[in-house]
Amino acid sequence: MENELIITFRPWLPPDMNFLWEMLYCSIHVPEGSARPDRTILDQPKIRHYLEDFGTRSGDDAQVAVTGEGVQIGAAWCRRMSPSDPGYGFVDASIPELGMAVDASMRGRGIGRQLLLDLLDRHPTMSLSVDTDNQRAVGLYESLGFVPLAESGSSCTMIRH
Ligand SMILES: CC(C)(COP(=O)(O)OP(=O)(O)OC[C@H]1O[C@@H](n2cnc3c(N)ncnc32)[C@H](O)[C@@H]1OP(=O)(O)O)[C@@H](O)C(=O)NCCC(=O)NCCS
Repeated sequence: MENELIITFRPWLPPDMNFLWEMLYCSIHVPEGSARPDRTILDQPKIRHYLEDFGTRSGDDAQVAVTGEGVQIGAAWCRRMSPSDPGYGFVDASIPELGMAVDASMRGRGIGRQLLLDLLDRHPTMSLSVDTDNQRAVGLYESLGFVPLAESGSSCTMIRH
């Protein structure tokens, strides 16, 4: 008989940082048929600023999904950005910007939804940027109250009040 997969959800801890960087890499949308970018993309200022010195800025927060063995399998995080260094989904300096990803082998089991619900409990207003062809993510965000605010090319900024 297959063992039941036990998944728990908890706030992030400093030892989760490597995993959060990995999830940030996974959260970068790759259009169907395109190759994944090199991992050095994480060094680019426009990507790095989502997690650099995470935990030092007021409002930095993350929720992590772990297996019964303590292996991290997904995360949702948020950070307030500034007008001088905005994220792709920046709205204003008071509204944290969301990022999230679930390990590819664990998607479609409700983990992303639970991570986001947990983070929304602590930060009911958030914004985000999502690729309009990322239908799984767009469906999840819409179902939890995010609405489109602006579109630019293939990206959409969404907000939840
Ligand atoms: C987006 C993501 C975080 C969602 O996590 P997940 O654990 O797969 O999501 P869930 O299983 O909780 O499903 C959430 C919703 O996604 C949609 N969904 C789930 N499986 C799907 C599938 N196979 N096809 C299409 N939509 C699907 C549904 O709307 C689902 O809602 P439901 O609970 O009403 O069925 C995950 O797919 C992921 O890591 N994707 C790559 C990274 C990424 O795109 N991050 C977001 C960047 S903006």
